[in-house]
Amino acid sequence: MFPIASNEDPGNGIALNLSSITKSFGEVPVLRGVDLELKSGERVALMGPSGSGKSTLLNCICGIEPVDSGEVRMAGRLLGDLKVGDLERLRRESIGYVFQSFHLLPTLTAFENVEFPAQLIGMAKEERIEKVKRLIESVGLTDRSTHLPDALSGGERQRVALARALIHRPALLLADEPTGSLDTENGNQVLKLLKTLSIEHGVALLLVTHDHASTDICDRVISMRDGSLIS
Ligand SMILES: Nc1ncnc2c1ncn2[C@@H]1O[C@H](COP(=O)(O)OP(=O)(O)OP(=O)(O)O)[C@@H](O)[C@H]1O
Ligand SMILES: [Mg+2]
Repeated sequence: MFPIASNEDPGNGIALNLSSITKSFGEVPVLRGVDLELKSGERVALMGPSGSGKSTLLNCICGIEPVDSGEVRMAGRLLGDLKVGDLERLRRESIGYVFQSFHLLPTLTAFENVEFPAQLIGMAKEERIEKVKRLIESVGLTDRSTHLPDALSGGERQRVALARALIHRPALLLADEPTGSLDTENGNQVLKLLKTLSIEHGVALLLVTHDHASTDICDRVISMRDGSLIS
């Protein structure tokens, strides 16, 4: 075991470092040597055509997909050097993920959805409940906290998903077109929250988006073409 201090910056100011990441599906290369560095608290927009590999890159960073070659360094740790248990723990504790289609657990209330990752990492009940309450409030959903996802609007669901992604105080927030299924007004509200919360929580953000307006909340924009990043 090693001490994971997700938001205490063990990476010396670097939240994420990718070096020469490659990934193929079968014979088809999807990532062709991706290098990227995100500073702690930095917000970066990732754009690029459909099929260029943006979601695959996010999935490789959070470990949903294994990389074929290259290095992922997070919280000062080279992921390839970690034992399976430590790797899972590092990812669970230091990454938050927001999907286009929310991915909330349908049988849990808004409150319970936000609480769930905190339970997974063993946060004490009192602390957990206090933090969930505060986050639910900061995304403006106090009066909706006992609702199931089905009884929430798209914008409200995404705000729950955003609170859930931050409950464990990750150092890195990955967001894959988080406003893609929302109308302009709700999308703008979620974007505003993404910016405010990323600043408040000191979390680095990698935001995949097709929408140039979304890049306004970011410090810089990078583009992907055919599996490579171009600035
Ligand atoms: N699990 C998989 N198995 C096989 N091929 C895959 C798999 N996941 C993605 N691909 C392929 O990899 C390429 C990149 O897909 P990816 O989802 O990363 O693109 P994207 O940039 O996120 O596109 P979009 O903007 O449409 O979401 C595509 O050609 C896709 O068909
Ligand atoms: Mg995608």
